[in-house]
Amino acid sequence: MNVNIMNVDYSTKIPNNVNLSEDRQVLKALEGWHPGYMNWWGDMGPEGFQQSLVYLRTAYSVDPRGWAKFDYVKMPDYRWGILLAPQEENRVIPFGEHYGEPAWQEVPGEHRAMLRRLIVIQGDTEPASVEQQRHLGKTAPSLYDLRNLFQVNVEEGRHLWAMVYLLQKYFGRDGREEADELLRRRSGDADSPRMLGAFNEATPDWLSFFMFTYFTDRDGKMQLHSLAQSGFDPLSRTCRFMLTEEAHHMFVGETGISRVVQRTCEAMRAAGIGDPTDIAKVRALGVIDLPTIQKKLNLHYSLSLDLFGSEVSTNAANAFNAGIKGRYHETQIKDDHRLESDTYPVLKLVDGKIKRVDEPALTAPNMRLRDDYTQDCVKGLLRWNKIISTAGYDFKLALPNVAFHRAIGEFKDIHATPDGVLIDEATWNRRKHEWLPSTEDGDFIASLMTPVTSPGEFAPWISPPKVGIDNKPGDFEYVKIET
Ligand SMILES: [Fe+2]
Ligand SMILES: [Fe+2]
Repeated sequence: MNVNIMNVDYSTKIPNNVNLSEDRQVLKALEGWHPGYMNWWGDMGPEGFQQSLVYLRTAYSVDPRGWAKFDYVKMPDYRWGILLAPQEENRVIPFGEHYGEPAWQEVPGEHRAMLRRLIVIQGDTEPASVEQQRHLGKTAPSLYDLRNLFQVNVEEGRHLWAMVYLLQKYFGRDGREEADELLRRRSGDADSPRMLGAFNEATPDWLSFFMFTYFTDRDGKMQLHSLAQSGFDPLSRTCRFMLTEEAHHMFVGETGISRVVQRTCEAMRAAGIGDPTDIAKVRALGVIDLPTIQKKLNLHYSLSLDLFGSEVSTNAANAFNAGIKGRYHETQIKDDHRLESDTYPVLKLVDGKIKRVDEPALTAPNMRLRDDYTQDCVKGLLRWNKIISTAGYDFKLALPNVAFHRAIGEFKDIHATPDGVLIDEATWNRRKHEWLPSTEDGDFIASLMTPVTSPGEFAPWISPPKVGIDNKPGDFEYVKIET
């Protein structure tokens, strides 16, 4: 893709509240980085549709009463802005050994490397998900869904900008090098993969996309919340604003899964099917059976749990102690915020059994964040199960046990069923496709993925949404494919 970059007036074309027009050095660094970003978007962003008009939300300010505008825009013309939540006056570091000291406006020298690493890891996830989702446009079940996919994609692009801004503004030369590396790594690439496991997995179909935005973007939410507590104020402000956009991504996931479940239940009822586990009968209706939805859920939840890292972690303890990365809703927690003598219950493998063991709380922020995450995940399951029970079916979607299908942490070397029963390797290999999608499951879902591009129409495996985006009517043309 050839983008005309010569005429970009960066100081005015990039919506920002960081006074870019007067920050010559950062402006120059961003100008240097921008062509590479546009090349990346052209190579690794959504496949096709780059000349289509998409009804997108663009963030222009951080005013909670109106921070975004909706309009038709071609994706390469999207205005990726740099927006930080307003500075809180007299903000103090809310945890760790610097508890109560004024928040840092510049990078504290002693914690520079750790801070840079955390920003790079967060930054790396943003373009990764765009890469994972780049093929989905051609099988979208509706223009509404197509638009939502692209909204998520451009905002993940903006989140990359947000992290790159921090690297370029606060980390000098090595920050600029890291910013370039963020455009060089590729999801799933054998030589130069993205940094975290779940971001190198495929997102082969739209059910995966909805699971990803529900479970994996929600890991993002938890990470952003804990970085929003950071004593490094620019990082805190950046993450706080990213969270306002992130909420929509999880909405796409939650309602997407709701609509799939809804459609399946309706089709089963209409056909007089009483047993939702009669997979062959349900699939013959052209909808996704509930047991297969459970398998996809098992996969994406377990991959997302791995993103929290080891339950007990020196790195996490150091980041907490240093005031760099806090806990979910840190300022609302009633304790000393230093964790010098507290304990936290951690799930561990003890004598071949899964047990809760009290560990020093300072070493267990990952475990605590993961617990908060699990609680947050449960809300969607309650909604989906309500749809199933209202339709009259005795079937419940459930989160698998934390020991199930893990590659990181306490349970990485053992095998467990979704119910948390430990099993040996042979049993796992024999039975894993009872719990995780098989090739055959994937082929079946793929067979349903035929695109629907007429306004107001939906693929037969998914229900229409209850309300439109920006209150638009049901037949609104969210994407003008031919322009
Ligand atoms: Fe993001
Ligand atoms: Fe996201």
